[in-house]
Amino acid sequence: MRVAVFGAGYVGLVTGACMADLGHHVVVRDIVSEKIDALRDGDVPIHEEGLAELIEKNGERLAFTTEVEEALEAADVIYVAVGTPPTRSGDADLTAVWTVVDELPHVERRVVLAMKSTVPVGTGRTVRHRLDERGLENVGYVSNPEFTAEGTAVRDFMHPDRIVIGSFDSVDGDTVERLHEGIEAPVVRSDVASAEMIKLAANAALVTRISFINEIANVCEATGADVLTVAEGIGLDHRIGPSFLRAGIGFGGSCFPKDSLALKQLAANSGYSFQLLNAVIEVNELQKRRVVGKLERRLGSLRGKKIALLGLAFKPGTDDMREAPSLVLAGRLQAEGAEVSAWDPVADATGQLDGVEIAGSALDALEGADAAVIVTEWPELRELDWAAAGARMRNRLVVDGRNMLDPTELRALDFEYEGIGRGGP
Ligand SMILES: NC(=O)c1ccc[n+]([C@@H]2O[C@H](COP(=O)([O-])OP(=O)(O)OC[C@H]3O[C@@H](n4cnc5c(N)ncnc54)[C@H](O)[C@@H]3O)[C@@H](O)[C@H]2O)c1
Repeated sequence: MRVAVFGAGYVGLVTGACMADLGHHVVVRDIVSEKIDALRDGDVPIHEEGLAELIEKNGERLAFTTEVEEALEAADVIYVAVGTPPTRSGDADLTAVWTVVDELPHVERRVVLAMKSTVPVGTGRTVRHRLDERGLENVGYVSNPEFTAEGTAVRDFMHPDRIVIGSFDSVDGDTVERLHEGIEAPVVRSDVASAEMIKLAANAALVTRISFINEIANVCEATGADVLTVAEGIGLDHRIGPSFLRAGIGFGGSCFPKDSLALKQLAANSGYSFQLLNAVIEVNELQKRRVVGKLERRLGSLRGKKIALLGLAFKPGTDDMREAPSLVLAGRLQAEGAEVSAWDPVADATGQLDGVEIAGSALDALEGADAAVIVTEWPELRELDWAAAGARMRNRLVVDGRNMLDPTELRALDFEYEGIGRGGP
């Protein structure tokens, strides 16, 4: 089949490359010409495992353009994979989505507009009206939300837990289902509103688990229990399961914060106060800030102290720093008068962290530091020569925001170690 993808971001590029790998002919369109030029030159503008290889492998069936007409030529399915960032009010900003919808020209054949972007429930119905108003009845509409996680997006796309397809007309849903032939996964067919809600509810369930285990960790700290052991013990209960039970310094990224806020606002706009989600969001905000308290308890005032943030991306395996805990932490530490240095193996912090010294290596970031804070669980940090790190630091203190290091090993190297929820205040 012929597929057009609007948006060459994290989702659009993975969708395009995977669809080409399934044998479809794909044209990816973006409005940023530098991105398209780079892609045409074989440079992939984002860090996502396996993506560059997949794009190269499927080069014959994968084209990039800035032109709407070129993307739509003979397309059977048009994917919308543009950004839907939060507005000031916390609602999803659908400006880019409307641009795509309003730019669709009249076509004689039946085409399907498939929504990959995460949108509020009710968006599909509004898109349908807008298309009908313009006489575009032959453009079908399908909600086909994306569940991939950055860092494992290619694998997630090819081996999903499920494929969700919500349609007004089942013929259009059938077309999108056929597009996924070759992928083994349960297919959930539904109405459009339910498909939209599945995406938001799935993310809400995941962030709820994160804030839940973080609160358990905080109580562990106050009572002397160890959250790692507790998580193992509860995760073995088949009714609970082990995933998303890793305590840390809170969730970030381009999806969880914005989607939980969007669902909260969607509920509020409909007159319902989603109290559980309100608490989940608040717990997450506090969790990021607790690190500052941990540092102050060990170091006293942070004025003039040097704190090294190890990891800037919101999670390992990606260069994405949108809503990353590192941004909040850097700002809070600077506000307390600390000098902040930072390192990340792939994220480019240019223009995002005013006044923060960006180091070329983790060891360089630790030069003269009073404390190291593990912000992102990069495997490189587990492999770091911590004896050498200690020798470069002014004071040997590690606050392990991801519980990824071995406290015994660090303490043997004369480090003070503090994790999240690891027993004792
Ligand atoms: N990032 C993820 O892991 C992920 C996972 C699931 C769902 N989503 C959702 O998918 C959507 C896209 O997310 P993303 O992270 O890929 O965003 P992104 O910001 O990385 O990419 C969006 C791209 O769309 C382009 N764009 C804007 N207007 C356009 C237009 N009119 N025509 C063509 N391109 C246009 C932008 O230039 C940008 O390159 C969002 O709604 C997001 O919530 C993201």
